[in-house]
Amino acid sequence: MKTKLFTLVALLLTGVTALSAQTGKTLVAYFSWSGNTQYVAQQIARQTGGTLFRIEPAKSYPTDYKPCTEVAKTEKETDARPAIKNRVADWDSYDTIFIGCPVWWWTAPMIINTFAESYDFRGKTVVPFCTYASAYRDETLAKIVALTPDAKHLKGYGAVNRDTKGLTQWLREIKMIK
Ligand SMILES: Cc1cc2nc3c(=O)[nH]c(=O)nc-3n(C[C@H](O)[C@H](O)[C@H](O)COP(=O)(O)O)c2cc1C
Repeated sequence: MKTKLFTLVALLLTGVTALSAQTGKTLVAYFSWSGNTQYVAQQIARQTGGTLFRIEPAKSYPTDYKPCTEVAKTEKETDARPAIKNRVADWDSYDTIFIGCPVWWWTAPMIINTFAESYDFRGKTVVPFCTYASAYRDETLAKIVALTPDAKHLKGYGAVNRDTKGLTQWLREIKMIK
C-alpha cells in the first residue's frame, strides 16, 4: 500500500513538473513609435496568452516623422542608450520573452540595446519580431538575437507595417501555440 501511494505521489509530481515546464510564462516586450509594432505585439499576446510590456522611452521621440528620423539617426551614430522609464515586474517568472520593434535606419532602434542590457537573459528563450516599411527585416531580427547572447532563440517574424499574414502559422511552427 505504502509503495503504491509513493508511486502515485511520484507520478503526480512528475506530471506537475512537466506541465509547468510547458506552460511557463510568456512576456511580449515591444517598442513602438507609430503603433504598428504595438498592433503586432497585441496579436502575439492574444494568441499566446503572453503579458504585454511596452518599452517606454524616458524622453519621448518627436511625434513628427522627419524629426523622429533625425533623433533616431543620431542615436544610432553615437551608439546611444536611450533611457527606459518603466521596468518589467517579476522578470524571473518569465521563460519566453518576445522582443519586438520597428526597423529604424536598417536595424533595431538603440532603445532595444538599452532593454537587452537591463535584464538577465540566462535561461530565457527570446523570440524576435519586427515591423518595417520595406527592408532590413532580417538585419533587425539578427540584432535582437545578437543583443541577447545568453538566451536561446526561436525563429523570428517580420510584418510589413501591420500586415500580420503568416503570424499564426509562425506561432505554430515555433510551438508557441497548438
Ligand atoms: C526613424 C525611422 C527609421 C525607419 N527606417 C526604416 C528602414 O530602415 N527600413 C524600413 O523598411 N522601414 C523603416 N522605417 C519604417 C518603420 O520601420 C515602419 O513604419 C514600422 O512599421 C513602424 O513601426 P511602429 O509603428 O511600431 O513605430 C523607419 C521609420 C522611422 C520612424
